[in-house]
Amino acid sequence: MKRRQFLRDAAMGSTALLGGMGWTGASAQTRASGDSKPRLRMPPLLEATDKGRFELVAQAGLTNFTGIDPTPTIGYNQPYLGPTLRLANGDYDVTVENQLNEPITAHWHGLVVPGDLDGGPHQSIASGAKWTPALHLSQPPCTAWYHTHAHQRTAIQVHSGLAGVIQLTDGQDRDRGLPERYGIDDLTLVLQDRRFDRRGRMVYGQSMMDRMHGFVGDSMLINGQYESVAAVPQGIVRLRLLNGSNARIYTLFMHDRREMHLIATDGGFLPESIAMDQVRLAPGERVELLVDFSSGLPTALMSEPDINSGPGNMMGVFRGNARGRPFTVLPFAIDDTIEPTVRRVADKPGGELPKFIESDIVTARRLSLDVGMGPGMMGRMMRGRSGGMTINGQPYQMDRVDMRIQRGKIERWLITTTMLAHPFHIHGLQFQVLSENGHAPRAENTGWKDTVLIERDAEILVRFDQTAPEDSPYMAHCHILEHEDAGMMLQFSVT
Ligand code: C2O
Ligand code: CU
Ligand code: CU
Repeated sequence: MKRRQFLRDAAMGSTALLGGMGWTGASAQTRASGDSKPRLRMPPLLEATDKGRFELVAQAGLTNFTGIDPTPTIGYNQPYLGPTLRLANGDYDVTVENQLNEPITAHWHGLVVPGDLDGGPHQSIASGAKWTPALHLSQPPCTAWYHTHAHQRTAIQVHSGLAGVIQLTDGQDRDRGLPERYGIDDLTLVLQDRRFDRRGRMVYGQSMMDRMHGFVGDSMLINGQYESVAAVPQGIVRLRLLNGSNARIYTLFMHDRREMHLIATDGGFLPESIAMDQVRLAPGERVELLVDFSSGLPTALMSEPDINSGPGNMMGVFRGNARGRPFTVLPFAIDDTIEPTVRRVADKPGGELPKFIESDIVTARRLSLDVGMGPGMMGRMMRGRSGGMTINGQPYQMDRVDMRIQRGKIERWLITTTMLAHPFHIHGLQFQVLSENGHAPRAENTGWKDTVLIERDAEILVRFDQTAPEDSPYMAHCHILEHEDAGMMLQFSVT
């Protein structure tokens, strides 16, 4: 069978899987006409490993997601999202230019750099200005990302497109037996859920529900592309997944229930791959998976509904659409014109597990993530004001340093939530998860992490090796971006 035929079959086959998400408008017409879906594209690769420098330009543009009307969007070096930055350990002269008419930042989520180079809200880049941090990278290879972190504007700016993927590489993936051909058998997948209006334009919701729960959409964009099919060789394929959604928590599985082999978490490779039936991916988190397509059968990456929308959570009461039914994230078709080079799952990617020595713990902290339900806070949110989300009872304040941490010392943090699950992210390190909900961490949380989903509680061990002065502190926050902007964030110095 020819490639086009294969793609069409996969597209038709996946139509039946779309059910649960309430797909409307453009997509329904496309499906009714039986058109095959476009092939998934990768973000352009910005290869900087040997260059010692790279440049990002935040710019405005127009993106036609649906084929009907275009949407005003923003991106780095392009109209929506940014290039995949491929970096290696070493030194980089970076330039970030802001051509937008509002302040932005460029935060290196997952890279371990000092506070003043971190790109948090204190490193604001004014409209028309340039920021030129000199980054020194020295950490295990990983899939990280970069995105704007502008004070109280992160949710809307990331939604509009200001984010991209980072591949930190050591050039050894072939020796690890891993697929490494960008966009061929090593796929970068940015998962974002979005809403579109009748004109096919992407819209951002700001209702009280959108603020309380965080924005969730009813359609998927992968790498900024609407309704696409990934064409893969008939062999082992590596998927680097970034949950770049504002709020949606995915529970991923393959439609035909084939295994996904987890090889890396936020901060790098696992020592051994772990065969998984499903993988949970909260906003801000990354995983790398190997999936075996050598049978030649097409399938689809699926997700269960957002756990924050389920019956056990507050929003389930209000929000019926996302309950109960799985939905398609991305269909896969086999392209038999691509020669597979990797034919077996690497069982030893060769990373190291985090192992801090507990007897060295100097400090224990408790952080409680709270959704404010008092009348004052509800009122603020209903009037569209920030606030209402807190850590230890306090909303984020840019001029208040919440913790002072000693560099190189191990601390144990207990993080809890009473309402909704919150992906808790910490700048400036990769940490170790000790326990979740009173149990050993699930597989996704056994490796190095910078973001961990707090469903009830989690205990983590942290150690900061870089410094962050009082005037350029690190952030720790919920990565549901509406929660972050509404105050579920704190800041701390490391000296
Ligand atoms: Cu990905 Cu503080 O953010
Ligand atoms: Cu970060
Ligand atoms: Cu949250």
